[in-house]
Amino acid sequence: MRHRGQLKLTHGVGGCCYLALLISIALLLAGGCPSATDDTSGTSQAFNNTTDPTNDSAGYVGSVACSACHADVAAEHRVHGHSHVLKGIQGRAPEYAPEGTRAGVPNPPAGMAFSDVSYIIAGYLHGAVFVDEDGFVATDGVAGVNTLWNLDFPPNATRAGFAAFLPNQTSPIPYDYQTCFRCHTTGPRPQDANDPRSQDGRPGILGTWAEAAVQCEACHGPGSNHVSDPRAREIFVDSTPQTCGRCHSHGDDPNVIAAVYGFLANNTQYEQLLASGGHGGFNCTVCHNPHASITYDRDRGLRNDCTACHVDANMAFHDGIVFEFGDHVEALNCQSCHMPLAGLSTSFAPAALVGPEARIGDVRAHIFRIDTTNTDASAVFTPDGSAVQKDAQGRAALTVDFVCLRCHNQAGDVFPLTLPGARLIADGMHERAANAE
Ligand code: HEC
Ligand code: HEC
Ligand code: HEC
Ligand code: HEC
Ligand code: HEC
Ligand code: HEC
Ligand code: HEC
Ligand code: HEC
Repeated sequence: MRHRGQLKLTHGVGGCCYLALLISIALLLAGGCPSATDDTSGTSQAFNNTTDPTNDSAGYVGSVACSACHADVAAEHRVHGHSHVLKGIQGRAPEYAPEGTRAGVPNPPAGMAFSDVSYIIAGYLHGAVFVDEDGFVATDGVAGVNTLWNLDFPPNATRAGFAAFLPNQTSPIPYDYQTCFRCHTTGPRPQDANDPRSQDGRPGILGTWAEAAVQCEACHGPGSNHVSDPRAREIFVDSTPQTCGRCHSHGDDPNVIAAVYGFLANNTQYEQLLASGGHGGFNCTVCHNPHASITYDRDRGLRNDCTACHVDANMAFHDGIVFEFGDHVEALNCQSCHMPLAGLSTSFAPAALVGPEARIGDVRAHIFRIDTTNTDASAVFTPDGSAVQKDAQGRAALTVDFVCLRCHNQAGDVFPLTLPGARLIADGMHERAANAE
């Protein structure tokens, strides 16, 4: 099946017909500068249904049905975190795509056997939590042992093993539609007076779903009408960031980027992107192939790298540098500085290792802008630490403790920088690098 709507750009930001470029990116139409695109596959097709997510009141058929005809999309999706975020457990360890080299949950928490586990949430990218056989999310406070499984995450020196998860939560947490599973399942339904069912009859699961994890119909809507008449192409397709923001957002207000423990809260990519200044109007799909993993299938997962648009940008004195830290090896790229690990999913680097100033979480930021006027995270967050501050134009930015001190800290072999020193060097770095060339 053909790929549509892909936009590979060969011209730079600030080049010809700049406004047209921006508009074409935002609408995800091919075109832009007519003389300067190298991709002609996306010329004129439009998706037939971009407005009705119910697909005319269709029913769910499951992703296996879709893969019968869309084998290429299904093969990509199988490696994506979406397809692994909720695993039904049948008395033994869950299986993940072999491409997921860091993935896997070898054991349930102490005191539990796999036969006591109904579902595992995730275990593919950073960590996993467990749903017991009654459908409640296991927490330390109830079990009296650590219940969060961390995967290896070399960039912040985390080793696979159990870690603390809600030690003060002494009553079991239901696996609920609104607070959890609407973002981890396909065809989710809340429990209410009209439909009091629990998934599999497990009392802790407050509602039902059609298929575990984020599968085809989570984004395209139920497929029964399409499967019976595929040529009509009446299945829902939405490339706006709202379709992703439904799950990749933390609260109800997209203007607020939630923060926790001095990091960006997890699943806040949508709010971050809106506050990123230059990229604020982009669709997620400008950079992301919605079907392919950015972690384990980067070549297909990443549609347009930074330099597709920022053609003249230099590497700010870090061209050709390779950063090594324990088992982590990173050939520096634009993301190394502009998408630092400022988000927190399940782990961060301990101060005992990297010093009290370096801030290294486990999820890449989508803010892109670097603050060179302030030195540390106190300028990033509101005084109560619950959200990210923004400037008068509604833009967020990250300070050098997230950016430079991820590498230039007291751990490892790279020379350490102080915060004021890093800020001074960072200020105007690209310009100085350009002049030095
Ligand atoms: C019997 C074969 C078949 C099955 C099963 C099938 N599709 Fe399709 N699908 C097609 C064909 C044929 C097209 C049109 C392809 C084209 O013209 O490029 C299509 C197009 C699409 C499109 C693009 C719609 C548009 O407006 O262009 C999407 C999205 C899609 N399918 C998703 C799904 C999903 C999700 C499922 C499972 C619920 C599914 N398909 C099951 C055959 C199938
Ligand atoms: C609004 C949608 C939403 C809700 C509600 C939600 N999550 Fe998630 N969850 C996500 C997204 C998106 C990600 C991946 C992106 C990220 O981590 O930044 C994720 C990732 C995870 C991960 C995987 C961590 C990793 O990266 O390996 C776990 C575990 C998890 N969620 C548990 C929960 C639990 C438990 C609840 C309920 C208390 C919950 N989530 C509620 C959207 C949600
Ligand atoms: C996270 C949301 C999401 C999931 C999950 C998803 N899709 Fe898509 N899909 C999209 C979006 C957005 C587009 C719009 C075009 C684009 O940007 O690639 C799309 C486009 C398509 C198309 C038409 C263009 C193409 O790439 O061929 C098909 C067919 C399709 N999806 C099938 C599937 C199938 C089959 C699955 C499950 C194996 C699936 N999708 C899962 C979001 C999703
Ligand atoms: C129904 C909820 C939902 C929707 C809609 C959704 N996501 Fe996700 N997304 C998640 C969850 C949950 C995870 C965490 C997966 C895991 O830990 O296995 C995730 C993970 C990801 C990842 C990391 C996966 C990897 O393998 O590297 C990317 C990238 C991503 N989503 C992009 C998108 C984009 C782009 C869209 C819109 C086209 C989208 N998501 C729509 C829930 C969703
Ligand atoms: C599809 C084109 C495109 C891609 C891909 C892209 N950018 Fe941009 N970027 C823009 C445009 C357009 C602007 C706004 C104009 C400007 O500030 O130059 C911008 C602005 C920025 C800004 C300034 C933000 C501000 O408002 O101060 C930074 C920093 C940036 N981009 C970094 C990156 C990085 C890093 C990547 C790769 C992860 C990237 N960009 C990918 C087009 C793109
Ligand atoms: C070593 C860290 C580092 C690397 C690597 C890096 N940048 Fe930057 N970048 C910065 C800092 C610091 C600033 C803010 C100060 C400045 O403007 O020089 C910045 C500013 C920017 C800006 C906004 C200011 C402007 O010049 O308009 C853009 C756009 C940008 N970088 C793009 C990129 C791209 C694209 C790459 C990859 C080719 C890249 N950067 C690599 C550190 C870096
Ligand atoms: C300007 C390009 C760009 C845009 C726009 C963009 N992303 Fe990303 N995203 C990336 C890149 C590049 C990475 C991988 C960074 C790396 O690992 O080098 C990434 C990584 C991710 C991850 C994995 C983070 C992690 O560290 O586990 C998620 C989830 C994600 N993006 C979701 C989204 C969502 C949702 C949107 C829209 C709201 C979005 N992205 C918009 C470029 C972009
Ligand atoms: C991903 C890791 C990483 C990040 C992020 C990073 N650096 Fe570096 N930087 C390195 C490594 C590795 C070297 C080479 C060090 C060596 O040879 O000892 C280096 C070298 C340098 C040098 C010497 C360059 C030269 O030409 O000799 C300066 C100055 C520097 N970094 C400043 C910064 C500043 C300021 C930031 C933040 C804006 C930053 N770095 C971000 C890893 C990083």
